[in-house]
Amino acid sequence: MTAQIIDGKAFAADVRAKVATQVARLKEEHGITPGLAVVLVGEDPASQVYVRSKGKQTVEVGMNSYEHRLDADTSEADLLALIDQLNTDPAVHGILVQLPLPGHLNEDLVINAIDPAKDVDGFHISNVGLLGTGQKSMVPCTPLSCLMMLRAHHGSLSGLDAVVIGRSNIVGKPMAQLLLGDSCTVTIAHSRTKNLPDVVRRADIVVAAVGRPEMVPGDWIKEGATVIDVGINRIEKPEGGTRLVGDVDFASASLRAGAITPVPGGVGPMTIACLLANTLTACCRANG
Ligand code: GUN
Repeated sequence: MTAQIIDGKAFAADVRAKVATQVARLKEEHGITPGLAVVLVGEDPASQVYVRSKGKQTVEVGMNSYEHRLDADTSEADLLALIDQLNTDPAVHGILVQLPLPGHLNEDLVINAIDPAKDVDGFHISNVGLLGTGQKSMVPCTPLSCLMMLRAHHGSLSGLDAVVIGRSNIVGKPMAQLLLGDSCTVTIAHSRTKNLPDVVRRADIVVAAVGRPEMVPGDWIKEGATVIDVGINRIEKPEGGTRLVGDVDFASASLRAGAITPVPGGVGPMTIACLLANTLTACCRANG
């Protein structure tokens, strides 16, 4: 079998187009423009690339983008004061503080200072709790992207065996909650899991989110399974230079899977599209 490639780029373009249509309607019918504030502390090069891309795509769908770039040595008090100001600004419907933060800043404290209704990352402890108890919440963008692609491919996920490899707070755990919410039988596997190959071999759905290049070989994949690869790892090419690979060995896995997301061009492009969708959701909820 050769797997169907799940085209994240096309998917993301579709999500952005739908968001843009709704944004135009909000403006026309209610005079409201959704606004997303992104806060970047310091000059981490990867974060700068993400933040630029977020700002560009926010404007492209017709929303207002507010970028706040702060020095790497910004105090926690100053950052919290900015978050307070954004929390009360009616033009700001979504707030994202780019992670990682410089070491002197307490990430949990900062994230939990964001108004949960504006927490478009879904990282605030209230949103984590709401998601865990199946209530309406802001859902983290990466797992939401995975869920949207899985639903589009399968229709119903009910009763399917799903394995999430990786137990991070921002991908693995919320991913497991979302799959459980769609009535999958969910296993969260991690570095201490015994007999990981056999655990993965039972799965109809594999979500790999560990950040280890090509750690899942094709012979772990059940024939016909759907593979969602969240990993984005840069590795050296034997002939020199670098290339991006996922957590799954795409070449061998695509011979056994029924469907698979590539890296790049799978989950990655979807995450900012979901961020825009979350900002629209936050704006709609704020305005009844
Ligand atoms: N850094 C890398 N990915 C993310 C993300 O999804 N949200 C935030 N806030 N920071 C990130």
